[in-house]
Amino acid sequence: MRPAALGRASRYSQGRVFGISHPDRFRRCFSHEISQETCSSVAKLLQWKPTPDHVADNPPQVVINGFVRSVRSMKSIRFVALGDGSSLAPLQAIVDTKHAEGLTVGAAVRLSGAWVSSPGASQSHELHVSKVEVLGPSDAKTFPIQKKYQTPEFLRTLPHLRPRTPLNAALLRFRSDAIASLTQFFASRTFTQTHPPIITSSDCEGAGEVFTVTPATETADQANTDAKKDDSFFRSKKYLTVSGQLHLEALSQSVGNVWTLSPAFRAERSDTSRHLSEFYMLEAEMSFVDNLGAVMDLTEDMLRFLAKSLYETAAVKELLSRSSQSGSDLAPLDEVRRRWEGLMDPSWPRITYTEALGLLQKNAEMFTEKPTWGMNLQSEHEKFIAMSVGGGQKPVFVTDYPRDIKAFYMRPNQPTAEQPNATVECFDLLVPEVCEIAGGSMREHRLEPLQDAMKRHGILKPAMDVNGNVIPDADGNGPTSNLDWYVDLRRWGCPPHGGFGLGFDRLLCYLSGVQTIRDIVAFPRWVGRCDC
Ligand code: 4AD
Ligand code: MG
Repeated sequence: MRPAALGRASRYSQGRVFGISHPDRFRRCFSHEISQETCSSVAKLLQWKPTPDHVADNPPQVVINGFVRSVRSMKSIRFVALGDGSSLAPLQAIVDTKHAEGLTVGAAVRLSGAWVSSPGASQSHELHVSKVEVLGPSDAKTFPIQKKYQTPEFLRTLPHLRPRTPLNAALLRFRSDAIASLTQFFASRTFTQTHPPIITSSDCEGAGEVFTVTPATETADQANTDAKKDDSFFRSKKYLTVSGQLHLEALSQSVGNVWTLSPAFRAERSDTSRHLSEFYMLEAEMSFVDNLGAVMDLTEDMLRFLAKSLYETAAVKELLSRSSQSGSDLAPLDEVRRRWEGLMDPSWPRITYTEALGLLQKNAEMFTEKPTWGMNLQSEHEKFIAMSVGGGQKPVFVTDYPRDIKAFYMRPNQPTAEQPNATVECFDLLVPEVCEIAGGSMREHRLEPLQDAMKRHGILKPAMDVNGNVIPDADGNGPTSNLDWYVDLRRWGCPPHGGFGLGFDRLLCYLSGVQTIRDIVAFPRWVGRCDC
């Protein structure tokens, strides 16, 4: 009788699969029949379908490392679900009760045994364990991560343990694959990857949302005493970067097109599902480019490449075929699939801010905030545009916003008869639910117009020391500005250029269906929370 035809109890009680194998036999089978690669992860082993040579009498012997996700006890055996973050599905291991000591939920273990076809419906093969090594014990009674459903809010209180849940592990793999894909895209376009600084001397966006950097030993009180004057660590106020753009502009004058995926920090008190205090921004800067269309084309090509290259990866396949348990807190699956299809669509709509305003005003009764030309689009407005113009599927570029609500560095449009108001050459890329995932613009590359714009925005401020005193320039000739260096870029060989910044974590939320940005980042920081 074929073993698979036996009932579970009778099969497991035959005693054929248990007991410690002879070490020589084990080594021989392992080295001859199974590559190290096959046993390198649970995912690899689950995919491996032994060839017919691996007959029941001589089943392949494998060794696998992982963490115990759950244990189900029968009279003489234990069913152990083993995971290692490499797949949503666990590996089923069957262990004789007498070898099961230390096999508790959360334990880090190494299991050796026979990889045999399984009579169960949930897996094609299972591990009949002959040797158990507990490498990192776990007290299951106190281990907070359980196989049963646990709310995102609860898991957020345990950021150091949360990555061990299968869904969070899949999200980590998804993030890693996305970075690899973006690296490949930019390399194929000969963009140079660069590292702009994290500590900066200015607030790039001019929105006043910076965190200040001071040594822990330099308290505010100390810094404000005369004794400390000019003696603070950096001699003037420094901040965590809000965007690498200004530095990328400098680097693009060296090697041409550049990109980075770097952390950005914003002290926004926005307690929303889309805002973090620390997040990753993907930024690209194109040099010798004179029209916004080229910047939008790059953004679109990049996202389409990303979607196409990730669609067939294991993590995305898992996220798009998730079970109800792993997916109950995610956006509905058909909606998430539509998002992927929209990103892979060959062309996305582009409309101007003024056209968008027209659409919004025609439907003004739908909104709490009245759509008014010259005002920022609220998220309810952005959602409407994403749904009505992009059909809830394709991302939508909204271009040419009013000058006065955008950053000082954006190049102005020439006023026309149809558009006499001052607008700038910029775009926001909107998608349903998440709203703005990217923003970009042509940069003002001419010296005087840039200086005028900085004055208009009140940006051309002198640099201050920590006590608020104006710092004279190196020759002692009057005040210098924090952004003198940025203005300098316009003095010597500044070609027309433009670029964009994409909220990487927002993009990952959008494509995975994770509803809040706090659950797509392993260690999220937002107003009031920075746990470990
Ligand atoms: O639109 P933003 O502010 O653009 C810039 O910072 C430009 N200097 C970028 C550039 O042109 N190089 O930010 C870019 C993107 C936004 O579209 C949004 O997706 C994301 O960064 N973002 C945030 N993501 C998470 N949490 C926050 N607090 C975010 N603020 C912006
Ligand atoms: Mg923006």
